[in-house]
Amino acid sequence: MTHAVSDVARDEPAAQVAPIEPTLFRQLLGCFPTGVAVITTRDAGGRPVGLTCNSFSSVSLEPPLVLFSLRKASSLLGTFRAAEGFAINILSQRQDALSGRFASSKIADKFEGVAWRAGPLGMPVIDDCLASFECSVHACHEAGDHHVFIGEVKHMGGGGADHALVFYKGAYMMLAESLRTLVVQGRLGSADLDEAYRTLYGTLLRLASERATDAELDAIEMAVDDIERHQGSDTLAQRIESASRFFCAIADAGHNEALTLMAQTMTTILRERMTHVIPVLPRPDLFPLRREVVQCLRRRDAGGAVAALDELITKLRKDAPVQAAAA
Ligand SMILES: Cc1cc2nc3c(=O)[nH]c(=O)nc-3n(C[C@H](O)[C@H](O)[C@H](O)COP(=O)(O)O)c2cc1C
Repeated sequence: MTHAVSDVARDEPAAQVAPIEPTLFRQLLGCFPTGVAVITTRDAGGRPVGLTCNSFSSVSLEPPLVLFSLRKASSLLGTFRAAEGFAINILSQRQDALSGRFASSKIADKFEGVAWRAGPLGMPVIDDCLASFECSVHACHEAGDHHVFIGEVKHMGGGGADHALVFYKGAYMMLAESLRTLVVQGRLGSADLDEAYRTLYGTLLRLASERATDAELDAIEMAVDDIERHQGSDTLAQRIESASRFFCAIADAGHNEALTLMAQTMTTILRERMTHVIPVLPRPDLFPLRREVVQCLRRRDAGGAVAALDELITKLRKDAPVQAAAA
């Protein structure tokens, strides 16, 4: 049954709507688990190229159509727009390293060391994938900061028995799920976790002090404002949200896709610990340290930012309320 939009609904004055906050938007989109594919094609010189993609979706059975969306900022946009076709290679859970490889901006020749063959249309089909679809380009639509490519499937293969690689809440599902279990069972030691936070965010702060744009520094500062606003009366969920946003903003400012993935996994751990292990209380005494992190980043003082974060982690642990230690 179809529902027509009534005239009454159409004539209603536009409601006042809050702007969609990009970090939260991305986070909420992450609640929808997806598979992971490597989309491949050939460049003008015939070389195989590709990228990791989770925006793949089926569109139509007859004719057989599928789609994926490609960031306008992608180095491969021109290549895909000029290509006559592309191949979709659906990854298995054992191919997480391949996913990381094709998502990295640092690797110039993503196919180096990767086993593949040309499909009947000549598109690169990667070995051992769960399924592959070789497509001719049916349409390409500009949509916001992406282009949506619709392909008509001309050949397909695969059907492997392995499980799919699943991307969920910013991390590969197997990893996120096994980490969640470890956290909730208290099998990840606090000392190990603190060391991991210091190492990861120390590196990210160093990168951010070199690479962060003013807008990214503003985003970190806005997250700090948010943490300071969300005291006493606010729910635990709001405090978890604002704490996560602070760390996500630092990760974004570091501009390293692989470290961002690791940071997303650490955020998953942070959430689980705050929810199940440590019922964090508001800590106004720590506000100046986060401010210090932001001020140091604005001065491009990596050492100062890392020292402030170190002190934050130490104080969080050392002065944690006694009841907070209960698992
Ligand atoms: C799980 C995952 C899914 C991704 N999905 C998309 C996507 O749907 N569209 C897109 O343009 N980029 C996506 N990316 C990012 C690209 O893989 C990445 O930006 C790009 O390929 C980096 O290589 P380049 O800088 O050489 O272009 C995704 C990355 C990951 C890790």
